[in-house]
Amino acid sequence: MPYLKSLIKGPIGVFDSGYGGLTILKEIRKALPEYDYLYLGDNARTPYGTRSFEVVYEFTLEAVTRLFDMGCPLVILACNTASAKALRSIQQNDLPYLDDSRRVLGVIRPTAESIGEATKSRHVGILATSGTIRSESYPMEIKKLFPDITVTGLACPMWVPLVENKEYDSEGADFFVKKYINELLDKDADIDTIVLGCTHYPLLIDKIRQFTPEGINIITQGEYVATSLKDYLRRHDEIASRCTKNGRCEFLTTESVEKFKESASIFLHEDVEVRSITLE
Ligand code: DGL
Repeated sequence: MPYLKSLIKGPIGVFDSGYGGLTILKEIRKALPEYDYLYLGDNARTPYGTRSFEVVYEFTLEAVTRLFDMGCPLVILACNTASAKALRSIQQNDLPYLDDSRRVLGVIRPTAESIGEATKSRHVGILATSGTIRSESYPMEIKKLFPDITVTGLACPMWVPLVENKEYDSEGADFFVKKYINELLDKDADIDTIVLGCTHYPLLIDKIRQFTPEGINIITQGEYVATSLKDYLRRHDEIASRCTKNGRCEFLTTESVEKFKESASIFLHEDVEVRSITLE
């Protein structure tokens, strides 16, 4: 009997370099609780934000291939760095060979779509990893949709390590949160909307709010990505009908199970079932 790719059913894959994607997963599960999810955190090789295009692409492709092998018909890159540096190449060059009946989606486009309504001054700031800022993905996506908006980006290389090392609530974090917000507003004083363009950053939200002048909107991505995914599944029954619906969620990490369990419980406020895997 021929191998019918379109019959493969499974959970929705959600990928991040580490724990950050859990902030996206949380909102997706709230919006679409009936689906099954398989989360993969490449914790052993995080952060991706300071790595070259080639390395981020190679690591992301390994993750997508593994999630496909585990039956996911759809994979969400819940990582801006991977969305900025690998998504397009994977969609255009790799999917046709891997399995062109499956889909890989990112988080930058749905976030960019939300900007138009959020800003009045039409000056927007993007805080993200060095990789995402260097890729210019945000200015390009926002300009395509809203040519009148001025976009100013700033890399915050210390924020992911603060989150991955559970220092996001510490006094030490204050210095680096204040530093990057002030630098961004020094670059453009008319900014009225700041996008947290890294899925790790919502863990720093209390401190970010504390050091951001009143009246400036702070945008986190989870809800926008969840709404956009809901809409995508409504419009694409050929994919939605292949995503299984038992309300289950499983987790994979490239680091130790214990470490992941401990941190995931902080992000998700629940105990999780985790397996350790190696990517290559
Ligand atoms: N959470 C990822 C993002 O949204 C990147 C973190 C990292 O590995 O540097 O960009």
